[in-house]
Amino acid sequence: MRATAHAKRRYDRNARFYHYADRQIRREWRLLALAEARGAVLELGVGTGGNLPLYDPHEVSRVTGVDFSAAMLAGAYGRTPSVPCDLRLMDVQALEFPDQSFDTVLATCVFCTVPDPLQGLREARRVVRPDGRVVLLEHVRVPGALGCLQDVLNPLTLWLMGENINRRTLDYVRMAGLLPERVDEVAGGLVQLIVAKPPPRSRGELML
Ligand SMILES: C[S@@+](CC[C@H](N)C(=O)[O-])C[C@H]1O[C@@H](n2cnc3c(N)ncnc32)[C@H](O)[C@@H]1O
Repeated sequence: MRATAHAKRRYDRNARFYHYADRQIRREWRLLALAEARGAVLELGVGTGGNLPLYDPHEVSRVTGVDFSAAMLAGAYGRTPSVPCDLRLMDVQALEFPDQSFDTVLATCVFCTVPDPLQGLREARRVVRPDGRVVLLEHVRVPGALGCLQDVLNPLTLWLMGENINRRTLDYVRMAGLLPERVDEVAGGLVQLIVAKPPPRSRGELML
């Protein structure tokens, strides 16, 4: 997909400046998302690994971090993770893991950049265990005049930083078949913490 190759090149090119953008994601916001992480965690779009030192070793057994940008991942290798950690070069839209492999699938500020967020969230649904959770902390479009301003500015932020500031991520979560359990507004609603679970298994799946 051309959009994916383009987005990946942009992150490879901008990785060395990412620590400036990284500061926009406050530590307390990261901690809100990480407080929901349990067991074996898959972190999508792990980037330069800003979350890796912050996982709670009492709740999280290991983290597998994936990103499609080798340059961003290089930054993550420089971190000291708080739990056992494995980093892999991989596209969120085509995860190379079997179905139902993780207790938690987590992403912070990723689905504003994934070229096909619906496909990425379908993959999150596929690899999360039936009793697991998908946890997202994302910049989103707000209602009203500010949302219209986000629409106007979006081509600029996409061109400059590869980030969509007007995504309706909660809609994509539902379209992917995930069931939102909790949606908390952060920063006046510009950022949302979304905790979702996979749908109950059908009788056919239970009998397999
Ligand atoms: C704004 S950065 C956030 C990084 C990190 N999650 C954080 O909280 O600091 C977005 C990250 O998502 C990654 N990304 C975007 N689309 C991706 C995809 N399709 N597959 C894998 N990684 C992707 C980018 O390479 C980048 O590292």
